[in-house]
Amino acid sequence: MHPVLLAIESSCDETSASVVRNGKVLNNIIASQAVHQKYGGVVPELASRAHQQNIVMVVHEAMDKARIKPTDLHAIAFTRGPGLMGSLLVGVSFAKGMAMGLNIPMIEVNHMQAHVLAHFIDDPKPSFPFLCLTVSGGHTQIVLVRDYLDMEVIGQTRDDAVGEAFDKAAKMMGLPYPGGPLIDKYAKTGNPHAFKFPVTVMPGLDFSFSGIKTAFLYFLRDSKQKNPSFVDENISDICASIQHNLVKMLLDRVAEASEQTGIKQIAIAGGVSANTGLQTSLKALGEKKGWDIFVPAFEYCTDNAGMIAMAAHYKFLKQQFSTLDVTPLARMPI
Ligand code: KG4
Ligand code: ZN
Repeated sequence: MHPVLLAIESSCDETSASVVRNGKVLNNIIASQAVHQKYGGVVPELASRAHQQNIVMVVHEAMDKARIKPTDLHAIAFTRGPGLMGSLLVGVSFAKGMAMGLNIPMIEVNHMQAHVLAHFIDDPKPSFPFLCLTVSGGHTQIVLVRDYLDMEVIGQTRDDAVGEAFDKAAKMMGLPYPGGPLIDKYAKTGNPHAFKFPVTVMPGLDFSFSGIKTAFLYFLRDSKQKNPSFVDENISDICASIQHNLVKMLLDRVAEASEQTGIKQIAIAGGVSANTGLQTSLKALGEKKGWDIFVPAFEYCTDNAGMIAMAAHYKFLKQQFSTLDVTPLARMPI
């Protein structure tokens, strides 16, 4: 049998649909929500409304582009969590309606597990076991991946996610949401050693990003007191320096995780894995340490249904289906 699955992602501010046939992701349709830009962050109520407006369109497009009819589908997959409750509800309800109408099973997918499984969409694919640094707007985790559906979080943030640190730092500089990609862009022409910030070290393999956020706030306040145009005049150097610090905090821990576990296959996933500074530093460190490095294609770094489809494929092979009374989970451990 060659399973044909439709997958829906709606956990935050991207509405996405994807069709996977026999483990091959055929497409990945994403409708992004620009509505949040002017608010400096995702507004949950606006996100769920936009999902409702977009979901039929993205599902239609995914099915059309894959040239499949609803009756060709063997199951419908959806993101159950973690994420924003109102956003998740749109995807879960839509999947329930379709599954009931077509009388086919539903597959719930954990969004963070799916970020890791984005590595199995294209080549080269890591082999087991490997370590995955999963870095997004809501999470920062080091995951020990033993098999497709057998993962353990061995380190994580105790407060803010690194994506949030990028976005808040950008907001403090007056940049729009999401600021992570803008910091990345400005950092390309800046000096990463122009300004120094503290590096917070937590016990074990954990992270903390709240301290650097506060340090950055005071750094900007003091610098602007001396020179009101400080940010405008130094934007590239500031971005390069803060990015350098955040990347160092991430990679120090990854190096420790590799030493502790003896694993030299290192992957990154999640929105922040699109950061070119992180990718470059990881490759350089990997060469020094003899690691094999895995970075997903850009469209599979940030939120997308392709990764949900990939995860659903492995769950389908194990016949792991959900019942129709399944509810979304704002928090959902891997
Ligand atoms: O995985 P994702 O799309 O959504 C969540 O599940 O959170 O990650 C979004 C996060 C945002 O914080 C965004 O600023 C960050 O990923 N991000 C980046 C870059 N591209 C996206 N951060 C730094 N550099 C980038 N190039
Ligand atoms: Zn995500």
